[in-house]
Amino acid sequence: MLVVSVVSLKGGVGKTTVTLGLAGAAKARGVQTLVVDLDPQANATTVLDPVDVRFTANDVLADARPGVLGDAVAETAWGDYVDVLASEAALEHRNHPAAGTSVEHRLRSSMAGLTGYDLVLVDCPPSLGELTKNALAACHLALVVTEPTLFAVTGAQHALTAVDVVRRGFNLRLRPAGIVVNRYRGQSGEHRYRLDELLAAYRDLVLDPVLPERSAITQAQGACVPVQRWPTPGAREVALVFAQHLDHLLAVGPADGSLTKGARSR
Ligand SMILES: Nc1ncnc2c1ncn2[C@@H]1O[C@H](COP(=O)(O)OP(=O)(O)O)[C@@H](O)[C@H]1O
Ligand SMILES: [Mg+2]
Repeated sequence: MLVVSVVSLKGGVGKTTVTLGLAGAAKARGVQTLVVDLDPQANATTVLDPVDVRFTANDVLADARPGVLGDAVAETAWGDYVDVLASEAALEHRNHPAAGTSVEHRLRSSMAGLTGYDLVLVDCPPSLGELTKNALAACHLALVVTEPTLFAVTGAQHALTAVDVVRRGFNLRLRPAGIVVNRYRGQSGEHRYRLDELLAAYRDLVLDPVLPERSAITQAQGACVPVQRWPTPGAREVALVFAQHLDHLLAVGPADGSLTKGARSR
């Protein structure tokens, strides 16, 4: 099982879009996937439209007993291959725990022994609070999302530094999986310039191809269906990009072998 966190320290850049695009690509491929929605805004949950939510990520983090996450996952309106651990607004207060308490291992502990999934995608909130730390502590790979703007390089840099801090602090298996450049418009000189900047700084990490801006993405999300099922040329274009990014993640894989602090033996 491969666990991937989708991160950026900024909102609105496309974390949820990338999470859902990868989940749709995984579904099309028959890869059993769990989306863990760790954003209190619950956008991924809304689009996946789960059938019967009895417990949310908030309940799971409150409990945190080994394996409890498995009891909280819900089936989604997307059907086979994609389940969700739903979010809710009340999750927000877990982003700011009382000073001195260390709670970053709760997601990882709740996932212990989880079976039935090939891929777990964790959609993170737009900050490096306790929720994103929980995601980074629980995953093998961190996928950074950015837009080709003035702040892209510094934004990616901050996210990668955060990944490194968590890796050295409490998850030695954690590695960056790459940088997704989202909402790219090839006609824009500014976008081309910013992409060049990103490539100059992180050539090995920028995922190819970039994800173009296409209204099909918003339309499919509005209809609560995978973009892979949206019947327009724009949708087919982005579906192809997500399929390639999924290939990349599965090829990089979990890279077992390094024991982490606090890793539990099964
Ligand atoms: N490549 C894209 N083309 C068109 N719209 C996009 C694209 N990526 C994201 N969006 C839209 O932008 C908004 C913010 O994206 P979202 O994935 O929710 O960002 P985040 O999760 O980082 O806050 C959403 O309405 C989404 O549909
Ligand atoms: Mg989001």
